[in-house]
Amino acid sequence: MSEKQHILIRSVPGVPSSRDSGACFAAVPRGAEEIAAAELQALGISSVQAGRGGVSFVADRAGLYKANLWLRTASRVLVQVAVFPCATPAELYGGVHAIDWTALITPDMTLAVDCSLRDSALTHSGFVALKTKDAIVDRIREACGSRPNVDTASPDVRINVHLHKNICTVSLDSSGDPLDRRGYRLERNEAPLRETLAAAVVALTGWDGSIPLADPMCGSGTIPIEAALVAGRVAPGLQRSFGFQRWLDYDELLWDRLLKEAESGVRKLPVGLITGCDQDSRALALASRNAAKAGFEGQLHFFHAALDAFQPVGDRGVVILNPPYGKRLGDEEQLKELYCQIGDIMKKRCRGWTGYVLTGNLELAKYIGLKASRRFVLFNGAIECRLLKYELY
Ligand SMILES: C[S@@+](CC[C@H](N)C(=O)[O-])C[C@H]1O[C@@H](n2cnc3c(N)ncnc32)[C@H](O)[C@@H]1O
Repeated sequence: MSEKQHILIRSVPGVPSSRDSGACFAAVPRGAEEIAAAELQALGISSVQAGRGGVSFVADRAGLYKANLWLRTASRVLVQVAVFPCATPAELYGGVHAIDWTALITPDMTLAVDCSLRDSALTHSGFVALKTKDAIVDRIREACGSRPNVDTASPDVRINVHLHKNICTVSLDSSGDPLDRRGYRLERNEAPLRETLAAAVVALTGWDGSIPLADPMCGSGTIPIEAALVAGRVAPGLQRSFGFQRWLDYDELLWDRLLKEAESGVRKLPVGLITGCDQDSRALALASRNAAKAGFEGQLHFFHAALDAFQPVGDRGVVILNPPYGKRLGDEEQLKELYCQIGDIMKKRCRGWTGYVLTGNLELAKYIGLKASRRFVLFNGAIECRLLKYELY
């Protein structure tokens, strides 16, 4: 155990301890906020409230660790340390300087500051981040005689400052690397779906592992793997580390207990439950390697096949397609044909199944030629997408 782990924080305002709870915020891809809220409620976490781009909640230290370990759709979990009005550089500096940073960061630790802002008098995020950093290191230098260094790539403590309508919220980023980095993606193919978004798609289908799931355009396998994590009851954070593990108050015993609990619930997938196909053999090889790294070697079934050869097995199930949509891959004219084919194949070969298509191109979606029974809006980064649901009677 390192020296800094011996120090235990008891009374830092905002940061959850074992006894007290603190205000937290899970940042979530837009469109997935309600799903993330349901995930938090399922973890037994209280005061859950979905908003735009995230979910606020209250948690003690165990709740915070569980949120990081188990949330499938959140990209990071922030812990609030201060909120104050802020319309000028002086108010920003004063508000940040007033926080007792010595209880959170020692001079031998490293830090980084991320900033986001909206509708505020201060408009330059780089300036706000720099001013915040100055106030933190000044406060620590005044108290300790030396200051921590900045490490933007892998800091011990990542601080998030958010300005909205001249209200500044200062938080600690308990996740460290974004939560979509589960640890199973070995390389990137051309247009992989972010893991958090794939998890949101699986959740929106309502699939629970009791019927087959197929992804005939699976690319690097993100949707099948995220589905496997659900069906196998695998915590998505089981293979990685988190920012809070480098904090002064890291409770290693608590974390080990939560990991053991999670590991003991994992179950093997039934044969044939989840399949993925793609016409690109390199993407498929990647899908198999990613699935093995995620712990599903031999449990997911990947086939090298073009869509016109796709034939689902069984009289009911869920088929999810994430076709190219012209913004990043492929050419729009050719894609019209592909979208027609998707409609045809769903109609003729997937009777009894429920079909879902995730696309960022609503014009192309019209070529599917079937009536969607539901449409969910989801954002893939800045791209507004639709998840379209088709009842295939
Ligand atoms: C947007 S990518 C899917 C990305 C995937 N969800 C992932 O996370 O990696 C679309 C995939 O469709 C595949 N594809 C395109 N046309 C196809 C066809 N006619 N038959 C089968 N696969 C096709 C591409 O090879 C590509 O892997």
